[in-house]
Amino acid sequence: MLAGVLIFAGGKLLLESVLFEHQFRENYQPQRVMTAIGGPGEKGVDLFKVRRIVSAKHHAVREPLMETKISFTLNGKARSVTTDPQRSLLEVLREDLRLTGTKYGCGEGQCRACTVLVNGASTASCITSVADVDQQAVTTIEGLADGDKLHPVQAAFLSEGAFQCGYCTAGMVMGVVGALTENPQASESEVMAKMQKHICRCGSYVKYSKAIKRVLAPSGKGHA
Ligand code: FES
Ligand code: FES
Repeated sequence: MLAGVLIFAGGKLLLESVLFEHQFRENYQPQRVMTAIGGPGEKGVDLFKVRRIVSAKHHAVREPLMETKISFTLNGKARSVTTDPQRSLLEVLREDLRLTGTKYGCGEGQCRACTVLVNGASTASCITSVADVDQQAVTTIEGLADGDKLHPVQAAFLSEGAFQCGYCTAGMVMGVVGALTENPQASESEVMAKMQKHICRCGSYVKYSKAIKRVLAPSGKGHA
């Protein structure tokens, strides 16, 4: 009798867990979830918090908002889009503005492949809603070079062959530029500390580290 009750309770728990997982996957829209829990941030994503919010609010989270005109400076030029303000900056950059240098990695703020600069600060565009950059200045990898002249960070990465598949490279470059924009006198260890959030699935960290050393080489300080 007791064994039967335990088996029934265990089975019920397992079924509920599977159903929850299914519901979570069906309704999980990272950029909207992140908007719901406070928009962009440097903190790690609390998946349990995300799950609770998706479970409690997913109908509200899924509801598109009225299209809104959002204007910002993009790579030095004025741009505007009229769209659902909850959409991620990454999606708008890639799909609407065709700037595909910024990559979609995890979509959850955990890998930094999608890094752009917002007012000079390194920002994960996958968890930043486009509404958050209204009236702000956004720089993408396409905006770094001056004509044919590469930005010093791009040139250093190229000189060191600092990439393998290259998928994470634009995010890495933007991360270094962001670190040096924030603090042009940053030391190597300070830049490295900022880059801890960036993930390279190819494991090209040694080359990236050499590229950063090269950027800082002449004086040991930054050249943003
Ligand atoms: S795609 Fe944005 S942090 Fe991974
Ligand atoms: S070079 Fe392939 S993911 Fe970094």
